[in-house]
Amino acid sequence: MRDDRLVTGDITEDDVLERTLRPQRLGEFIGQGPLKERIGISIEAAAHLDGALDHVLLSGPPGLGKTTLAGILANELGARLVTTTGPALERPGDLAAILSNLDEGDVFFVDEVHRLPRPVEEVLYPAMEDFQLDVVIGKGPAAQTIRLALPRFTLVGATTRKGMLSAPLRDRFGIVDRLDYYRHDDLAAIALRSAHILGVSLDAPGADAIALRSRGTPRIANRLLARVRDYAVARADGVITEEVALAALAVFQVDDLGLDPVDRAILAAIIEKFDGGPVGLSTLAVAVGEEPETVEDAYEPFLLQSGLIQRTPRGRTATAGAYAHLGLRPPADPQGSLEV
Ligand SMILES: Nc1ncnc2c1ncn2[C@@H]1O[C@H](COP(=O)(O)OP(=O)(O)OP(=O)(O)O)[C@@H](O)[C@H]1O
Ligand SMILES: [Mg+2]
Repeated sequence: MRDDRLVTGDITEDDVLERTLRPQRLGEFIGQGPLKERIGISIEAAAHLDGALDHVLLSGPPGLGKTTLAGILANELGARLVTTTGPALERPGDLAAILSNLDEGDVFFVDEVHRLPRPVEEVLYPAMEDFQLDVVIGKGPAAQTIRLALPRFTLVGATTRKGMLSAPLRDRFGIVDRLDYYRHDDLAAIALRSAHILGVSLDAPGADAIALRSRGTPRIANRLLARVRDYAVARADGVITEEVALAALAVFQVDDLGLDPVDRAILAAIIEKFDGGPVGLSTLAVAVGEEPETVEDAYEPFLLQSGLIQRTPRGRTATAGAYAHLGLRPPADPQGSLEV
């Protein structure tokens, strides 16, 4: 499953790979030029002003570098990084405990910030705005609220679903930016950088072959590189050429567009089980045996951006491109919902 990183406490091989390959400084962060420039300006300005950076909200599909950027922000500011996730903060007290232990200048990273429970979110408002923490002591009529001053910290929030953030929370971030899918040349550069770190021999055509099948996503480029490396070691002489990369990707069922078996199952389900659509998200998710959230966050964005599916008010439809990709003929008489 593509969102295995959501399973906290479980350290997978992918986690180790990510940590090893994660860029530590802004200069190592490949691609996303305009975003990188904006972030760089904010960091430099913070150094010239009073040292504190405004709160930062980063959004975009999984695997594009939100967590990486949070770490880079802390490194560039010379600050400590304190990390948590929205769902881990179940009660207001969980957040209060972390906030009251922050030091001046800390970068406080909240991953999946759209999943903060509302009562917890409300503790965050005065903390973000006025660096104040309201603590309730005692229960019932004897309960008292005391207000604690917090050090100046920078909240970095990451989300795959900016639309699910409440307006009051969204409005308290001074810097709001979005990561987009990467260009092929940037993904090839990422594959080459990763190969270098892993001590893998990868040539430029091999890097291109991986980049073209990475669905615009650095995390996928790194995963494909690791699988292709395994193949190169086991079945070739350890050197990743284009030929070796293509042979390996075929074994791992990654097709020419970089679609994996679940991506193809989604397209096939819309076409074969639901006559090309429209089909609702939850019905589609059941048909492919995934969670609706996984389909919506991890699979759909790239299928939409590739023009293979469309979202309509009545559900998802397959485009002519999806039929062609699966080697099928679009129906002769599209039912109005099918846009070809
Ligand atoms: N710009 C980049 N240059 C080089 N490598 C990158 C870049 N962005 C991401 N990566 C690599 O991709 C991996 C995934 O990135 P990261 O974990 O930051 O994604 P994310 O946006 O936080 O994803 P999620 O939404 O799933 O948490 C990182 O381990 C890193 O190695
Ligand atoms: Mg992340």
